[in-house]
Amino acid sequence: MNIINDPQEMRRCADHLRAEGKTIGLVPTMGALHAGHMSLVHAALRENDVAVVSIFVNPTQFAPHEDFGKYPRTFQSDIEQLKAAGVSYVYAPSAESMYPEDFVTYVEIGKVTEGLCGGSRPQFFRGVATVVMKLFHAVKPHRAYFGQKDVQQCAVIKRMVRDMDMGIDIIILPVVREPDGLAMSSRNAYLSPEDRRQALAISRALFEAGERMCGGERDSTELIRGVRECMAALQIDYVSLVDAESMQEVCRIEGKVALAAAAVLPTARLIDNIIYDPVENRVF
Ligand code: PAJ
Repeated sequence: MNIINDPQEMRRCADHLRAEGKTIGLVPTMGALHAGHMSLVHAALRENDVAVVSIFVNPTQFAPHEDFGKYPRTFQSDIEQLKAAGVSYVYAPSAESMYPEDFVTYVEIGKVTEGLCGGSRPQFFRGVATVVMKLFHAVKPHRAYFGQKDVQQCAVIKRMVRDMDMGIDIIILPVVREPDGLAMSSRNAYLSPEDRRQALAISRALFEAGERMCGGERDSTELIRGVRECMAALQIDYVSLVDAESMQEVCRIEGKVALAAAAVLPTARLIDNIIYDPVENRVF
């Protein structure tokens, strides 16, 4: 396995692979890998000649009061998992090589970043877009893989690629869940058994709303009320029904929508969502 720690070296390697006519699939991660990440890795391996997995806990997407310092870092076991899966390139740049002291350039994306997580974490998407732009420039992928778990992040990256004519295929894969429905997250490791039990209300609330949508409910206020009621024991950050592409709130369901929720538990802020397509009358 090749572990590359420097953007310049990564670019050289990507140029080499492209010159050989190989297609490159990138899976950007912050490590602490679980089955959700691995579903992206397997797709990247299947659909490209070379899969590159990046592991970088990106400081610019954490606010000063957030969990950057204690974000789970499990580099050795991540590498073992990736090796076992057959990944031959890991890009794990150092913080200094990504953000030298005089770094001043950031990517700002309007509108799509305004609600949901962008509302409660104002600097978050600026950090995400900046680091993903940098990863794209270093790895030069043909395709990049993201999870629907972070539905607004997917919309933001798709928009950045489209607006900036980057010509990278953005592939979104479904949320991978624990058997009881909880969306897998590196932050689940922070939860006490009691909080883990309470956290189940998030996916339950969304699934219940999904059934109502499939049953014909179209009214946003009504759906959000139901989700909030089901999550009443939790400290709710937001519950929103938005257009699946623009991330703008909708009053009534007319096209594809995302129903997204975030809750603040004592040790972790958790997010989850479902997408509903009225044409197929199906929840994803
Ligand atoms: P991270 O939280 O490590 O997630 C990496 C990728 O895995 C993201 O695309 C995320 O949506 C996906 N993922 C996480 N949990 C998932 C689940 N349960 N099912 C399916 N996919 C899941 O997201 C980030 O890192 C960062 O913001 C990053 C894009 C790497 C930029 O720093």
